[in-house]
Amino acid sequence: MQNVDVSARVWSHLLALKEGANGTPDVTWTEGEAQALALYGPLAAPVDDVMIVAQIGQSLDGRIATESGDAQDISGPEGLAHLHRLRALADAVVVGVKTALHDDPQLTVRLAYGESPARVVIDPKGRLCNSARLLQDTSTRRIVVQSCETDRPAGVETLILPRTDWICAHEMIMALRELGFRRILIEGGGVTIAQFLEAGLLHRLHVAVAPLLIGSGPQSLTTNPVPTLAEALRPETRFYNLGSDVLFDCALNPHIAGEKERVFNV
Ligand SMILES: NC(=O)c1ccc[n+]([C@@H]2O[C@H](COP(=O)([O-])OP(=O)(O)OC[C@H]3O[C@@H](n4cnc5c(N)ncnc54)[C@H](OP(=O)(O)O)[C@@H]3O)[C@@H](O)[C@H]2O)c1
Repeated sequence: MQNVDVSARVWSHLLALKEGANGTPDVTWTEGEAQALALYGPLAAPVDDVMIVAQIGQSLDGRIATESGDAQDISGPEGLAHLHRLRALADAVVVGVKTALHDDPQLTVRLAYGESPARVVIDPKGRLCNSARLLQDTSTRRIVVQSCETDRPAGVETLILPRTDWICAHEMIMALRELGFRRILIEGGGVTIAQFLEAGLLHRLHVAVAPLLIGSGPQSLTTNPVPTLAEALRPETRFYNLGSDVLFDCALNPHIAGEKERVFNV
């Protein structure tokens, strides 16, 4: 198991990389710092087109909240810091409306140094109240993806996309790309992440497992079942010890229309 040490000099280097800096500082990284660079380096590296990462924090029994919707403390402190680092490395963070309704999240960067990404909520039926914190806080761009006309607060952008059962995940990514977002973090919940995973759009999937058992509540990832284990998706995966949580960093092979082939050296 690899221990991760996101020291101040590692984090500065990653933020500089995200801003387009070339080269590596002339320093000898410790083993933990080298692991941090292996984990976050691919997310900070230059992006030709789009790069999409999903992260989910879950219990040992694969739950992301209790039945009553309590999801606050599933991840431990280092798991939460990891999530905030992912936000800081992203241009836009995407959540499904059930997460917005249950948690009223801010989606800002508070447990790491860095800028908060734009906030995107997928709300096809216009169920999210305009008083939601992610819509009210004007410190960054706010976008609602919906399939109906709903009045939104001044400054909130709306993307009206058609839905049959679901809004096409490819269309959402194309629309977000049009708005100028290149690094996109899909933050949950499980239903929303599964849409992007099933559509073959994820470059990486981060699953942070915290040592607690919940017994019931929303399931982590709700992908389509496979009839035999031979047909299961088995991504190339690295494991990192975040301290309070164990992180599974899965590399996937996305098929994004118009995107050049990308190879990550991790
Ligand atoms: N532990 C964690 O890391 C974590 C992270 C996030 C959330 N959570 C918890 O997870 C729970 C919510 O997760 P969830 O999986 O049940 O729901 P969710 O993913 O937050 O939201 C799902 C809903 O979003 C809309 N949606 C998402 N993708 C769509 C698409 N492609 N097309 C059309 N609509 C789309 C639909 O809204 P409609 O229903 O209106 O059609 C869908 O039912 C909450 O309890 C929250 O606290 C935990």
